Amino acid sequence: MVEIDWSEHAPRLRSSAASEADWNEQVARQLVRPGDTVAVDVGCGGGGMAKALAAALPAGTTVVAIDAHPDVLEQARQHTGGAVRCELASMDDGPEPLRKAIDAPASLIWASASVHHAADQQAAVNALASLLAPGGRLALAEGGLPARSLPWDLGVGEPGLESRLDVARDQYFRAMRDGLPGSVPMPYGWTDALTRAGLVDVATRSILTEQSAPLSVPEREKIADKFREWVGRLTGEAEAGHGHGHVGHDTQWLSPDDLATWRALLDPDSEHYLVRRTDLAVLSVRSIHLGHAPN
Ligand SMILES: C[S@@+](CC[C@H](N)C(=O)[O-])C[C@H]1O[C@@H](n2cnc3c(N)ncnc32)[C@H](O)[C@@H]1O
Repeated sequence: MVEIDWSEHAPRLRSSAASEADWNEQVARQLVRPGDTVAVDVGCGGGGMAKALAAALPAGTTVVAIDAHPDVLEQARQHTGGAVRCELASMDDGPEPLRKAIDAPASLIWASASVHHAADQQAAVNALASLLAPGGRLALAEGGLPARSLPWDLGVGEPGLESRLDVARDQYFRAMRDGLPGSVPMPYGWTDALTRAGLVDVATRSILTEQSAPLSVPEREKIADKFREWVGRLTGEAEAGHGHGHVGHDTQWLSPDDLATWRALLDPDSEHYLVRRTDLAVLSVRSIHLGHAPN
C-alpha cells in the first residue's frame, strides 16, 4: 500500500511550480477568455498555474488556489506572493467546502494531477463541474505519454530501463489508488468523466514539450533529480537526501538488476553517472481534457 505524505512533497511541489513556469504561462494564456471573472486552481501544489492564471487575467480578476494540505498550501501562498487567494479544502468532501472557498461561480477551474488523488474521482469531477458559471470551463490536466529522457541502450544494465520504470510507476499508481480510504474505481477516461458530470463540448488537447540534446549541466541535473525522486518513491527509501514523501510500502517494483543500474546512473562517483552524459533529452506530452458548463 502507498500512502502519500503531502507535507514531505511540499518543497518539491514548490520547485516544480517554479521550473514549470513557462509551460504554465503558455497554457494559462490559451485557457483564459475575455470576461473571465473567477479562475481556480484545485489541488494547486506549489501554485504554479494559479500564479500563471493571475498573470494572464486582467487585474481585478479573482484567482483562487485550493489544496487539501496546509503545508502544500503554504508553499503556494509563498510562490504566488499575494496575487492569489489561497484556501484549504478537499475534493473528497463534496462540493460545499469548495463552493465556500471559491465564493462565486467559476469561469475556469484548472486541476492538474490532483483529481487522480481524490478517493472518488467521478464525484470530484462532478463537484468541480457544479461550481462552474454557465459557459465556464473545467480543465483537467491528466495523463498524456510517459516522458523520455534516456537512450534505449545506456551501456549499463539491460536496455529499455526507462520503459520498465514506466511499468513500475503504473504499479505504484495502482497501489496509491488502492491505498486511498474509500477508493472508488473509475474504469473509463477523463473525457467520459467530464461528460458524465454534465459538461458539453468535451475535448482533449495534448501539448508536447521537447528539449533536445545536448542539455546544459543544470538541465541534466534536473533530469537526474526526477529519476532520483522516482527511484526513492519506488523503493520506499529516501534517496541522496531527498524525502521519499510516502510511508508504509514495502513492495519492490524495480528488479534488483534495474535498481543496481539506477544506483550507478544516479551516483556522482560512478563512471555511469547520468549527469555526465551528453545524450540526455526531454520529450514529454501532457493532456488537458476540457469540458464546458452548458449556457
Ligand atoms: C501531484 S500534485 C499536483 C500539484 C499541481 N497541481 C501540479 O500539477 O504541479 C497533487 C496535488 O493535489 C493535492 N491533493 C491531493 N488530494 C487532494 C484532495 N482530495 N483535494 C484537494 N487537493 C488534493 C496535493 O496536496 C497536491 O498538491
